[in-house]
Amino acid sequence: MTQVTTFKIGASEVDELIMLINDYSGYDFSDYSMPSLQRRFQRYIDLNKISDFKQLLQDLMNDSSMLNNLIEEVTVNVTEMFRDPSFFAAIRTELVPQLNKLPLIKIWHAGCSTGEEVYSMAILLKEHNLLDKSIIYATDINQSVLDVAKSGKYSIESFKENELNYRESEGTKKLSDYYIVLNGEVLMNDDLKTKIIFSTHNLVSDNAFNQFDLIICRNVLIYFNKSLQDNVLQMFYNSLSENGILAIGSKETIMFSPIENFMQVINAKWKIWKKKV
Ligand SMILES: C[S@@+](CC[C@H](N)C(=O)[O-])C[C@H]1O[C@@H](n2cnc3c(N)ncnc32)[C@H](O)[C@@H]1O
Repeated sequence: MTQVTTFKIGASEVDELIMLINDYSGYDFSDYSMPSLQRRFQRYIDLNKISDFKQLLQDLMNDSSMLNNLIEEVTVNVTEMFRDPSFFAAIRTELVPQLNKLPLIKIWHAGCSTGEEVYSMAILLKEHNLLDKSIIYATDINQSVLDVAKSGKYSIESFKENELNYRESEGTKKLSDYYIVLNGEVLMNDDLKTKIIFSTHNLVSDNAFNQFDLIICRNVLIYFNKSLQDNVLQMFYNSLSENGILAIGSKETIMFSPIENFMQVINAKWKIWKKKV
């Protein structure tokens, strides 16, 4: 078998790819974290056994499906239901009492990927009798992950882990009460979907679009550089209602950002803050 020596990408090749993607798709990745972009581009090159960088640029210019694949590689879509179960347990104990007082609960999941996080929230709200008065906006830059999210169809294999997460999140029933299995696939119950609006939204280029009582954006900022993180956090702040809550990923922070002094911590471990009044 012939071994293909793949191309090793450096900073200038990363810049060329960012420019090409911007010119040919309109997506601007120039404020994404450089080390992360380098890793993701290299992964694409290795997976596709690419040895000639100039040829790669040519191919990307001529083949939009190849370009889309590369973009999907950059916008990492890994997710699961009740990811970080203790985060959801913290929502149950620390946020539900506050949400309970509201006449209408508006929630924004930014960077929702294939929707598992959003269905987890809908289940949690249902268990606390809050789903009926909630409206959940779930957005992502990537249309193909949103299509999966909207369908609410998932492979059954991931549900063993999801069931464990659910129990650890202090779920009061069985996760299987919230879906049916059809032709070997999991299909989330329709009543969870009625309260969710899925749509595209690009955190780099699109504006705030509503006021929210809770904004959840986990494991997204980690892929951005500091200046883009600051802009996005400012947009989140502007989109929070009075007493609004912001939750980000466990490896992300609002410290040293422009909104740091205007938020008070609710849960330091799970990165949950409340807008100061
Ligand atoms: C790792 S997933 C996180 C999914 C989920 N929030 C979680 O924690 O399990 C990151 C998501 O952010 C989305 N994303 C990346 N850049 C984005 C942008 N500029 N605007 C909106 N979403 C973006 C990706 O498409 C991907 O679905």
